[in-house]
Amino acid sequence: MSEQFPKPPPTPAVEAVPILEMIETDKVYNVGTFGSGKLKAVRGASFTVEAGQVVSLIGESGSGKSTIGKMVLHLISIDGGKMLVGGKDVTRLGGKALREYYTDVQGVFQDPFSTFNPIYKVDRVFEAVRKSYFPEVRRPEWIERVKAVMSSIGLRPEDILGKYPHQCSGGQLQRLLVSRALLLRPKILVADEIISMLDASTRIDVLNLLGELKKQGLGILFITHDLSLGNYVADKVVILYQGRIVESGKTRAVFENPLHPYTRDLLASVPQLDKTWSQVEAEEAERSARLAGTCAFHEVMPDAPAHDDGQAEVATDHFVGCFRMDEADPCPAHLTHPAHPNTPTQPAPATIP
Ligand SMILES: Nc1ncnc2c1ncn2[C@@H]1O[C@H](COP(=O)(O)OP(=O)(O)OP(=O)(O)O)[C@@H](O)[C@H]1O
Ligand SMILES: [Mg+2]
Repeated sequence: MSEQFPKPPPTPAVEAVPILEMIETDKVYNVGTFGSGKLKAVRGASFTVEAGQVVSLIGESGSGKSTIGKMVLHLISIDGGKMLVGGKDVTRLGGKALREYYTDVQGVFQDPFSTFNPIYKVDRVFEAVRKSYFPEVRRPEWIERVKAVMSSIGLRPEDILGKYPHQCSGGQLQRLLVSRALLLRPKILVADEIISMLDASTRIDVLNLLGELKKQGLGILFITHDLSLGNYVADKVVILYQGRIVESGKTRAVFENPLHPYTRDLLASVPQLDKTWSQVEAEEAERSARLAGTCAFHEVMPDAPAHDDGQAEVATDHFVGCFRMDEADPCPAHLTHPAHPNTPTQPAPATIP
């Protein structure tokens, strides 16, 4: 069950700079026997992450969240669209350029335990970074740098360094991985379900850490299936359904006025401490009745095709995709639009002889 958390203190404004831009990106996996089938895991996904901003990528299991994270981290290819970092096209990278890319973009993943080799002390992960990226830095100086980064995110080096992974808590290991990523002084951190395996109080620590990092100007893509966690830290949310972004925008704009039926379903499923279940149900029923038969996307983009994967800006900092959820579920608004092939054509007026 999701926890309800108090909101963190407001963050002082950091200059808004788009550090990561995903522009209509696609990912197609080869699936089935001999890879003959195609699975479009991400469809036309566009969003930005600014410096000093946490963007939560939220969606159910299989919606394509990790696929987007892996595209940003260049762990898999990008099959359509473009990705820009700091305004530079980084859609396709290899060799030296990819190595340099990792000084700008780093990732931390769900299971901190599996990242560490149990037979080595945790310090080894830091040494690996030195050897790969900073061979010119001598070990004593490197250890000082490691200690400084650890301290900056609330870890006491003397409590952790020299220990084996099983002697550390999950939260400590997750913070260690964040400090490893920060040693490269990245501009973007992809955090994929980094708190799912932690207990509730440790989760808050790690979430607050993300809050601290964004104050220092880091752009964070925070991937989660849990709406309440997404809400807790995020300046902006991106809601994903079956590989398509169905709604996105400033967290408050989206959460105070969720428009897409999928976002509304997600929100209705989060327990709210200040409301009874029947109150939540009544509110959702009222909103559904108000929005029935409409599609905010096609109201703004009446000429867009029914299969459009894009989003329309329906209010300031609030974007929504077509309300149509599945191929078999035609968009109600679009069906009545004259450009749509399924719209029943009017019979020609009978001519009187
Ligand atoms: N390497 C792969 N080959 C084929 N299909 C894949 C591959 N990786 C992921 N998929 C499929 O792509 C879709 C999106 O997967 P993804 O891992 O991005 O989902 P997710 O939103 O991160 O889910 P979860 O919350 O369970 O982690 C799923 O249908 C998944 O089965
Ligand atoms: Mg995932």
